Amino acid sequence: MTIDDAKRAAARAALDELPESGIIGLGTGSTTRFFIDAVGEAVAQGRRYTGVPTSEASRAQATALGIPLLPDDGPWDIDVCVDGADEVDDRLDLIKGGGGAQTREKIVNYSAVRNVIIVDDSKLSPRLGTKWHVPVEVLPFAHLATRAHLARLGDPILRQKDGAAVKTDAGNYIYDVRCGLIPDPAALDRAMHDIPGVVETGLFVRRADVVLVASAAGVRRLVRP
Ligand code: A5P
Repeated sequence: MTIDDAKRAAARAALDELPESGIIGLGTGSTTRFFIDAVGEAVAQGRRYTGVPTSEASRAQATALGIPLLPDDGPWDIDVCVDGADEVDDRLDLIKGGGGAQTREKIVNYSAVRNVIIVDDSKLSPRLGTKWHVPVEVLPFAHLATRAHLARLGDPILRQKDGAAVKTDAGNYIYDVRCGLIPDPAALDRAMHDIPGVVETGLFVRRADVVLVASAAGVRRLVRP
């Protein structure tokens, strides 16, 4: 089984988590792309789903598939949001933001009654920080000052592509903060939010209700206690 096979299996399994009809949060990333494809097929077959996209990439994909979308302004009564993750620990806390979409993802996640996370089993770790840094979206204004404050919490590296700072959908920058093992993700999230200039972090603490983990053995359904 390839990684893409696993991502597709997790995405397909997420269809069973959806109501017959309703408002669905559409996450961002390579795993969620498979899920949005599946929602597009369901809509084409007559299911009445309306989406709330978490990035311009997800919006473009959903629009191309004919999935009706709600306006960005909110508020939304989202039944289920389905999204990917970069790391999932034993408590089902998450690191997200590998694609730089964590701010919109967290806003949409917060407006959903249930949050379902779809991953392949390479994303599992006993403790956050084992595999990933923490992506932090910051305002471009004074970002070097914000960086200096973040450096008290880890080693912040400005995310760049082709020599230029990567910009989020909101036009902000991302610092990937290498923190090592994170004993208390909620405390780290609060400490990062205390720094002016920080827009949002990729720490999702107690924000996953169900995690669907695909591997060669099948799809496991983990539920947050
Ligand atoms: C987007 O910013 C992220 O939060 C993604 O949800 C996360 O990086 C998972 O992406 P993949 O499914 O591509 O691994």
